[in-house]
Amino acid sequence: MPKGIVIYYSRTGNTKEMAEIIAKAMNEAGLQTDCKSVDKVKADDLLAYDAIVVGSPTYYGHMAGPIKELFDETVSFHGKLDGKVGAAFSSAANIGGGNETTIMGIIEAMLIAGLTIQGDPKGDHYGPVSIGKPDDRVRQQCERRGRRIAELTKKMLA
Ligand SMILES: Cc1cc2nc3c(=O)[nH]c(=O)nc-3n(C[C@H](O)[C@H](O)[C@H](O)COP(=O)(O)O)c2cc1C
Repeated sequence: MPKGIVIYYSRTGNTKEMAEIIAKAMNEAGLQTDCKSVDKVKADDLLAYDAIVVGSPTYYGHMAGPIKELFDETVSFHGKLDGKVGAAFSSAANIGGGNETTIMGIIEAMLIAGLTIQGDPKGDHYGPVSIGKPDDRVRQQCERRGRRIAELTKKMLA
């Protein structure tokens, strides 16, 4: 049975809200998905999942420290995440505040680990972005991304 996980770091709830919407959409699209704060995840937990989705607030244009630490800890089994599906999302305070560089940083780490990343020609291209609390546009983007991750994961495992 294919499984997904959405992992987030969130101090004030914006990234958490995005994570919950994405995980719900993944579940509704038929991929059994957990949604966990990064402090509840150990690196080797990732080995059990077929799709790994990671969200972080934008901190100085980068992922928050706890998310980076999680990636760094995967070095102990480097290569074993190869071929899984990956995706990223971020919340920032400002337009132009570094949302997309944060997502690209997460995607870079995922690519190094061998994950497969799908862009989006019609939605938020690199991954859902929110400015502050998710509004209706962001909620739709998170739902769309969750559905697409579930569909890609099921297709790859078929
Ligand atoms: C240490 C720190 C650094 C931040 N750096 C940025 C930044 O570079 N650009 C930006 O737009 N917002 C920045 N923010 C704002 C957060 O990205 C924003 O409030 C986000 O929505 C918080 O997500 P959360 O509610 O999930 O914690 C920063 C916040 C903190 C605490």
